Formats: sequence, C-alpha cells, structure tokens
Amino acid sequence: MNQTAPTSYLEHFAREVAHSLSLPGQKELPSKYFYDELGSALFEAITMLPEYGLTRASERLLQAHAEEMVAELHSPLVVELGCGTGKRTRSLLEALASRLPVTYCPIEISGAALARCELEIGQVRGVTVVGYEQPYLDGLRSVLHPQRPAQSRALVLFLGSSVGNFDRPAADEFLRQIRSLMRPGDALLLETDLLKPAEQLLAAYDDPIGLTAAFNLNILARLNRELGGDFNLSQFEHQARFNPQHQRIEMHLRSRIGQRVRIPAANLEIDFAAGETIWTENSHKYRLEDLDSMAARTGFSPQARWVDEQWPFAQNLWLVD
Ligand code: AVJ
Repeated sequence: MNQTAPTSYLEHFAREVAHSLSLPGQKELPSKYFYDELGSALFEAITMLPEYGLTRASERLLQAHAEEMVAELHSPLVVELGCGTGKRTRSLLEALASRLPVTYCPIEISGAALARCELEIGQVRGVTVVGYEQPYLDGLRSVLHPQRPAQSRALVLFLGSSVGNFDRPAADEFLRQIRSLMRPGDALLLETDLLKPAEQLLAAYDDPIGLTAAFNLNILARLNRELGGDFNLSQFEHQARFNPQHQRIEMHLRSRIGQRVRIPAANLEIDFAAGETIWTENSHKYRLEDLDSMAARTGFSPQARWVDEQWPFAQNLWLVD
C-alpha cells in the first residue's frame, strides 16, 4: 500500500532545476535527481565495482552484527529513509522478526524502487511492509505520528552513508528534525563512510569502466527526457574531486566547450564557458570523533558502533533518551 504525496512532481523538479542552474557563480543540480529508474540501476551497478567499497562494507556489518544489533532493540516498527532495493535491510529485518512481529515502513521518493523493495521484503516471514512514497521527513512524520501506541518503539534506518550528501550544517539540521519526530526509547541506525586516503576515494568516484561517469551524466539525460532539455552529453565530462578542507568527494559535470543549453519546461537558457562545471554531488567522509559530536549536537546518545576494517565505514546506533 502506497501513500502518494499530492504535489505536482514535474513542476517541483523544474523549479528546483531552474533555481540550482541559475545560482550566481557555481551552477548546481541536487543529487537526489540522480535516481530515476536508469540512475537507480546505474547506482546499483556502482555498488558492485571493486573500487566502490561502501555497500559491501555496509552489508558485511549488517550480516556480521545483525543479531547483536537487534538484541538491544524492542522495536516492532522499523522505518527506513530511502530503501534502495531492500536487499541490505533484509538480514536486519530477518534477525528482528525472529524475535517479534515487525512492521517495516520504507520511505522512498522513487515509486519503482519502492515497489521492488516491497517485493523483496514482503517475502520475509513476520514482517508487514507499509511503503510511503514521500520525501523523508514527510514520510517520517506520517509513520511516527504522535497517536502511535505509547509503548511502541521505533528504529529509524538511514543506511549507505546517504547522510554524506548533506553538507555538515544541513546534516545536523536534518538529524535534529529526525530527532524531533522521535521519542524516548526510539533508536536511529546511521551509516557513515569514514575518511580514507584521497586516491582510494577518487578511484571509488571515478572508476575505470566509467560507471560513475554514466551515473553523473544521466542527470543531464534526465533533464533532456523529462524537461525537454537539449544537453549534448558528449560535450560534458564527469569529474570527481577530493575537497580536503571539507573532507568530501565532490562530483561535477564539466563543459568541454563554450555552449548554450535550453531547458524549455524549466523556462531556462543557460550559457556555459569552456571548463565551467555543474556541481552535482557531495559525499562527505567522517572521522569517528566527528560522529560522537554529531550525535551530541543533534540530541542523540551513541549506544553502539560497528566499524568495517576492510573498507573503513561505520554503523552508528544512537538512542533517544
Ligand atoms: C548513495 C549517496 C551514498 O555518495 O557514495 C555513488 C552515491 N555517488 N557514486 C555516495 C554515489 C557516486 C552514494 N550515496
């Protein structure tokens, strides 16, 4: 069962695109727009790249520690922010559902991804799936409404280091908003990719077979498909940069030449100088110390943490008390 938001999606998309491509100085596009059906498939392919260790690290941790994680938890309600394919959540839900009946509420803006995830998790014994096709906070507000049973404990999952897409102040603000919708006894399982050598990070975000380049360029293809744009994709190239000051990977699309692009549905005509870029994504990397202070700043108490040694990556279990 899906609950669809009433907003006109295309209108909103067009407005956000117009705004971010018209910013003075650096042009931008919001990274959430990578994930149409093709973009989601490309991301899934990226997770299989030998150079991209994040997803395998997350899966190793979930598999190795699922029992331990759920031993502490008495949450019949599991809410996930973005559900991907549902594969990664399966082992955790299986461990939890072996002890108590669980309701799983994935919140996902992509209807296609939500349907796949409902299919995958719907097969797990003891789990009832109720999907929400909404933005994260709207979905969370619907699930964690104040009328839910007083004794019900919720576990909120934010996996895959998607929090890294927010810049640091915005991540704090987002976590605070999540916190304000939770109540004592609820828990948050937050996954974060850890800082590692720049060369290793650059290889993960600029892989030799060009999957990440395709993933990045697909956002322009999407502007062509959905908003009638006339981007010539061969005149843009993928670029990954490590920003040491902010400890993040930045992805850009660099215009190879001076050119003008039109996007009719966004009422836009944009000029690019040769070498000018569109900044499409930030992927912040964390140190373990950062995570403790982030919890403190946003109103959570760190309860447990699991770290993958092969690909430094942390799973943080934070409580509301
Ligand atoms: C899904 C946001 C965690 O930042 O590593 C993968 C997206 N971008 N390769 C990340 C992504 C380029 C990914 N997240």
